[in-house]
Amino acid sequence: MTALDTERATAEAAATGAAVKRGYVKQMFSDIAPYYDRVNRIISFRLDQWWRAKAIRELNIAGDPNATYLDLCAGTLDIASQIGSRRDFHGSVVAADFAEPMLRAGLRKISRDVVRPVTADALDLPFTDGFAAGAIVVFGIRNVIDLNGALREVHRVLRSGARFVILEFGATQSPLVGWIYRLYFNNLCPLIGNAVARHHSAYHYLPKSVAYFPSETDLAQRMRDAGFDAVRWRSHTFGVVAIHVGEKR
Ligand SMILES: C[S@@+](CC[C@H](N)C(=O)[O-])C[C@H]1O[C@@H](n2cnc3c(N)ncnc32)[C@H](O)[C@@H]1O
Repeated sequence: MTALDTERATAEAAATGAAVKRGYVKQMFSDIAPYYDRVNRIISFRLDQWWRAKAIRELNIAGDPNATYLDLCAGTLDIASQIGSRRDFHGSVVAADFAEPMLRAGLRKISRDVVRPVTADALDLPFTDGFAAGAIVVFGIRNVIDLNGALREVHRVLRSGARFVILEFGATQSPLVGWIYRLYFNNLCPLIGNAVARHHSAYHYLPKSVAYFPSETDLAQRMRDAGFDAVRWRSHTFGVVAIHVGEKR
């Protein structure tokens, strides 16, 4: 086997691994879609909607309330519906997710005049360059198999001056909170998730996906590498979550 053959075999194996993971993630979210909201509210003690509201504030929708915004990895449309129901909002939200059952589970929350659900992969968005005045992804980008590719794709579809907001789980700095958090997240959350959603692997995948996700500083650097400017981030709830914000120049 030549060096070229080895390189090709490695690339093929990586591509196969990525395709398998993409398929698993898509199927898993499709399976748990009917239970997703209920489990979220239970395991987060309803903090999830409060964190979402904080992230939406960072989008600065008031700066252009008539424009089109992108909710990426939109899931059951919690973010899209929160934006769409704001009194000061007169624009539209394109809510993209590759798992159609997740979007379907959220349809009752939205007005189709304001929110447009689209089945699409974050790595290959069916939108023109610069179509959105802002983009937000909440608890979603951690699941995309190619994080850097997704950041570049969001950058492409944003117009100049637009903000990009990411809400994700963080790496809490407090040893005590970290210990309680890991105990809860690694042991109790899977039990609750399995009991409510009756899915054996989904809520074991959750802590693993958080553990493998880059640190806050690493994510900020990756956003810069993808072309975002003025990147900043802030932790909330003892570092359990972090909100990153970047701008397209
Ligand atoms: C944990 S859920 C988050 C949903 C929602 N944003 C929320 O606030 O609850 C992650 C979502 O990301 C979606 N997702 C994962 N990888 C994706 C990809 N490559 N393209 C589009 N959606 C993706 C999943 O289908 C799932 O609905």
